[in-house]
Amino acid sequence: MKIVSIGGGSAGLYFALLMKKADPTHEILVVERNRPDDTFGFGVVFSDATLENFAEADRETYTEIARNFAHWDDIDIHYQGQVLTSTGHGFSGMSRQLLLDILQRRCTELGVILRFQDEVTDLGAYAGADLVLAADGVNSFIRSRYAEHFRPQVDWRPNKFVWLGATFPYPAFTFVFKESDHGLWRVHAYRYNASMSTFILETTEAAWRRAGLDAADEDQTIAFAERLFAEELQGHRLLKNRSLWRNFPTVKNGSWHHRNLVLIGDAAHTAHFSIGSGTKLAMEDAIALCRALQRHDEVKKALVAYEEERRPDVERLQRAAQVSLEWFEQTERYHGPLEPIQFAMSLLTRSLRVTHDNLKLRDPKFVESVDRWFASRAEQQSRVAVAAAPAPPPMFTPFRLRDVLLSNRIVVSPMCQYSAEDGTPNDWHLVNLGSRAVGGAALVIAEMTDVSREGRISPGCTGMYKPEHVIAWKRIVEFVHANSQARIALQLAHAGRKGSTRRLWEGIDEPLPDGNWPLISASAIPYHPYSQVPKAMDRRDMDMVRDQFVGAARMAVEAGFDMLELHFAHGYLLASFISPLTNIRTDEYGGSLANRMRYPLEVFDAVRAVWPEREPMSVKISATDWAEGGLSPEDAVGVARWLREHGCDIVTVSTGQTVPDQKPVYGRLYQTPFSDRIRYEAGIPTMTVGNIASYDDVNSILTAGRADLCVLARGHLFDPYWTRHAAYEQGYDLPWPDQYVSVKGFTPR
Ligand SMILES: Cc1cc2nc3c(=O)[nH]c(=O)nc-3n(C[C@H](O)[C@H](O)[C@H](O)COP(=O)(O)OP(=O)(O)OC[C@H]3O[C@@H](n4cnc5c(N)ncnc54)[C@H](O)[C@@H]3O)c2cc1C
Ligand SMILES: Cc1cc2nc3c(=O)[nH]c(=O)nc-3n(C[C@H](O)[C@H](O)[C@H](O)COP(=O)(O)O)c2cc1C
Repeated sequence: MKIVSIGGGSAGLYFALLMKKADPTHEILVVERNRPDDTFGFGVVFSDATLENFAEADRETYTEIARNFAHWDDIDIHYQGQVLTSTGHGFSGMSRQLLLDILQRRCTELGVILRFQDEVTDLGAYAGADLVLAADGVNSFIRSRYAEHFRPQVDWRPNKFVWLGATFPYPAFTFVFKESDHGLWRVHAYRYNASMSTFILETTEAAWRRAGLDAADEDQTIAFAERLFAEELQGHRLLKNRSLWRNFPTVKNGSWHHRNLVLIGDAAHTAHFSIGSGTKLAMEDAIALCRALQRHDEVKKALVAYEEERRPDVERLQRAAQVSLEWFEQTERYHGPLEPIQFAMSLLTRSLRVTHDNLKLRDPKFVESVDRWFASRAEQQSRVAVAAAPAPPPMFTPFRLRDVLLSNRIVVSPMCQYSAEDGTPNDWHLVNLGSRAVGGAALVIAEMTDVSREGRISPGCTGMYKPEHVIAWKRIVEFVHANSQARIALQLAHAGRKGSTRRLWEGIDEPLPDGNWPLISASAIPYHPYSQVPKAMDRRDMDMVRDQFVGAARMAVEAGFDMLELHFAHGYLLASFISPLTNIRTDEYGGSLANRMRYPLEVFDAVRAVWPEREPMSVKISATDWAEGGLSPEDAVGVARWLREHGCDIVTVSTGQTVPDQKPVYGRLYQTPFSDRIRYEAGIPTMTVGNIASYDDVNSILTAGRADLCVLARGHLFDPYWTRHAAYEQGYDLPWPDQYVSVKGFTPR
């Protein structure tokens, strides 16, 4: 095969040597515009796991790389005059130039032809090649030339960064956070040989401009940074090397191949330097492409297989990188409000790849101090004694909302059961909610319960609009109080334009075939084009619904509920006022966010006035509509602020379900970043919900301060005893009910 690599960076060189090694009859040419010894950049980082892949792919290069490592286990975090150290992380750094030297030498040894100082501007000269690699880096001209086939998307991130060197060999991967009069500065520094470190300086564009760095040359940048970080540099110098301030581009492509052309490395995808993985990705691409070409005779088939194999891993890493880069874009949110140890947890667990449990394996002492700190905070907040040594797992610490004490941080999410008749809950609801209360969660929120018959989603929804409902709910509440430690809340709602539809398993949000009832909403917009058109509410309708909420709240007091949640999410009636996609009113209830919040807040105030002072109220919101022109996360912060000012105690942060053509980005804990933002920016406690499946995720969320309570819906459908099982796995003694004490001697297998 004739193969040409345009670009002799880590991707192009590594691929060339692996292919030549696999079959020495291949003719392989690498064309590179720079000289062989041009030293752009300083060091690169690999994790221990990445190095194992290299060892398997080509032992010779691995041995050379391993000989030149600087290896370290610690991460040091400089924050507000303290240095916190977490150990056990296992990274290696090496000079980028040395890596390229090793790859170039190995290429030459195997017979790959390397042509330097040749900038390719046209692929015409390589028309005879069987395979052409676009290994030409982040600004790939090949990607741009064939843009209609590769369909690139480049997302330029807002922060400014510069890549510098330091003559100080930092003993650990070092993060420095430091404020100047201009703003907050972040440093990512790591050693790459015995005497040198990479030193990446990052800040917001506003701070960068205030510091005058938009007009600074490389020497002025260095002078500024050496002054600011004199203490952390301990008398050492910073070095430049084409050290220009840049914005980071996140590169993605719709396709990675076109005819015999293939994108590899940074040309195909980038991952932010804060997870240090660009070179790893480039070299792993090379391994996968080489293997695909050995498995398939036809180049075209091999390129399809390469993309199929690599894309999921790359996208997973890019998702982690996205969360990580956003953390660094938003560090101002955490810098100051967070105590050092929680700041460290927030930083270390930012991309979800490092968790409370992994950290415990890596550095048990560090996690012990985190748990002790968390327990002491829980003790202050709840005014209940919490053991300090050993501290309980974070999820088993108490939390107080007004006079209601929750014994742990796990909440059963409200989940419609579509099993009531004319709103009356029955034995199904008793067993469903009762077993989850016995299952150990601290708070069970009963399903969306409607304030009127016409306010129901489906004929099977529960209600709180007639006297029988109080009796039926009271039976459930009393069971929970008598037989578990759990508190029980009711979620009150009106379905609005999403009403008069079928039960979940008969077609969610699909109109009833018959027996429909009239609908109301903020505006006369149907949910689906074929759904019933709701009436836009007039003031009389508003008075009526507000009074129905008040009536239902009074009945909830009578039934003995401990807490009330109002449903302002998922496109139901009150949510329909908040979202600009469903509210196009021209009166004082439409237009600005303040206007759109007017009616939901009026309902909240009216309910709060009759709900007992000593008992808490929560509100569930959709923090984004996941749709063009819809509610944004910034708006959600405003919504939460108003709720706090009106006496709401905690916000449940959900998302979407406002419009059927939403484009949500799902994943593990996908709604938790919205909770994190609201908790800090609106200054209100939060419950996070959405794809929380493990106790490890719960402990990570809590200790990093991303929420106060963790809510599980499907997790609790799957396992009503989720909390008990989490306690067992963590060796925590959660007492069983007397009837079940025999379980103590039982070992599940
Ligand atoms: C600030 C910063 C810090 C980073 N830190 C790390 C880290 O710690 N760890 C890590 O793994 N990665 C890190 N990276 C990323 C890493 O440098 C890249 O991801 C990696 O080099 C990608 O390899 P590549 O071969 O795809 O691209 P490159 O290494 O960029 O190679 C592309 C090559 O193509 C050549 N070229 C381009 N156009 C032409 C042309 N027309 N003709 C001929 N030659 C051409 C270029 O000169 C270049 O040598 C960092 C990046 C930045 C910006
Ligand atoms: C069967 C079912 C019924 C639901 N009913 C409600 C509801 O009544 N009220 C509500 O706010 N959310 C409801 N939801 C949404 C969940 O409460 C939760 O927000 C969502 O499922 C995400 O959490 P999870 O990933 O843990 O399942 C329901 C979800 C499911 C699966």
